[in-house]
Amino acid sequence: ALSSARWLGRGNKEAGDGAAVDAMRNSFSTLHVDGIVVIGEGEKDHAPMLYNGEKVGMGDGPQLDVAVDPVEGTSLLAYGRPNAISTVAVAPRGSMFNPGPSYYMQKLVVAREARDVIDLDAPVDVNLHNVARALGKNVQDLVVFVLDKPRHKKLIEDIRSTGARIQLHTDGDVAGALMAVDPRSEVDVMMGTGGTPEGVLAACAIKGAGGAMLTRLDPQSEAEKAAIQEAGIDLAQILDADTLVQGDDVFFAATGISGGTFLRGVQFSGQGAVTHSMIIRSKTGTMRYIESHHNWNKLMQISSIKYD
Ligand code: FBP
Repeated sequence: ALSSARWLGRGNKEAGDGAAVDAMRNSFSTLHVDGIVVIGEGEKDHAPMLYNGEKVGMGDGPQLDVAVDPVEGTSLLAYGRPNAISTVAVAPRGSMFNPGPSYYMQKLVVAREARDVIDLDAPVDVNLHNVARALGKNVQDLVVFVLDKPRHKKLIEDIRSTGARIQLHTDGDVAGALMAVDPRSEVDVMMGTGGTPEGVLAACAIKGAGGAMLTRLDPQSEAEKAAIQEAGIDLAQILDADTLVQGDDVFFAATGISGGTFLRGVQFSGQGAVTHSMIIRSKTGTMRYIESHHNWNKLMQISSIKYD
C-alpha cells in the first residue's frame, strides 16, 4: 500500500500495480514460509512476479496457499477513487479453490444474520425480502453494493423495483464483500458478477468476519466457458466461502491505499506515513484494525524497499 499509494490519481494502473507487486514480493522474501501463489497476478508469461504457481517466502516455514491482490482496484488507484486496497490471504497448502481459467463469478454476500436465507437461484426480490427480514429491516432500508457494469443492467433494474437502495461502484468487489459483512458499513448486501480470484480473497475474509457468501462461476465469453469446461471445472456448482477456502486456519489482511469507507488511505507526511489495515483470523473470528505510523528515517535503514 505504501509503494502503490505514490501512484494515486496519476492515471497509470500498471505502474501503481507494479509498485505494489514488487513491494509485496520483497516482503514475502523475508518471511519463514513455504508459500505457493494460488491467486496471483495471472499466468507466468504475463506476470513477471507473484504469478499463479510461483513459490514465495524463504521456503523453510509452514506450507501455505497464498492469495494476493497487491492492488485490488487498479483503476480506483489510478483515478484516485475510494476503496483501492492492498490484500493478501494465507491458508494451509491445498485449501484454496484454484480458479484455473475462470475470470468471473456471480456473488451474493450478506452479514451473518442473513446467512441462512440467501439462495443464488432465487429471484432478486425474494433474496432481498428475505435478507431484510433476517436483518430486522424493511427492504427499502437495504443498501446493495453492485459493480457498475453493463452486465448488471437487469440486476440493477430488479433491485430498484424492490425499493432497495443501491451503491454503484466502478470497481472493487473485495471491498464490497467486506462492507456487506461489516455491521459498521451501510452496505447490507453485495450482488453481481466480479472476478473469480477476488471471490476467493473475499471468502478468506468472510470465513473470519462471519458473513455468508454464495458464488457460481459465470464466464463472460464463450472462450472462458470452453476453457473452464476443458479444465473439468463444474460450471453449475455453488461455491460458498467454505468451498472457496477450506478449513479454519485462514488469515486475511488488507491495507487501504486510497481512502475508503472501511479503511483509510495512505497519508504521507514529509517524514513518514500512516496506514490503516485490517487483519482477520478465521479460527477465532478476531478482526484487528491496525493504525501504523511509519518513520522513514528508521525504516529506510533496514528496508530493501524504498518508500520515501
Ligand atoms: P483490478 O484491480 O484487477 O483492476 O480489479 C478490479 C475489479 O473491479 C474487481 O474488484 C472485480 O472483481 C473485477 O475488477 C471486475 O472485473 P471487470 O472490471 O472486468 O468487470
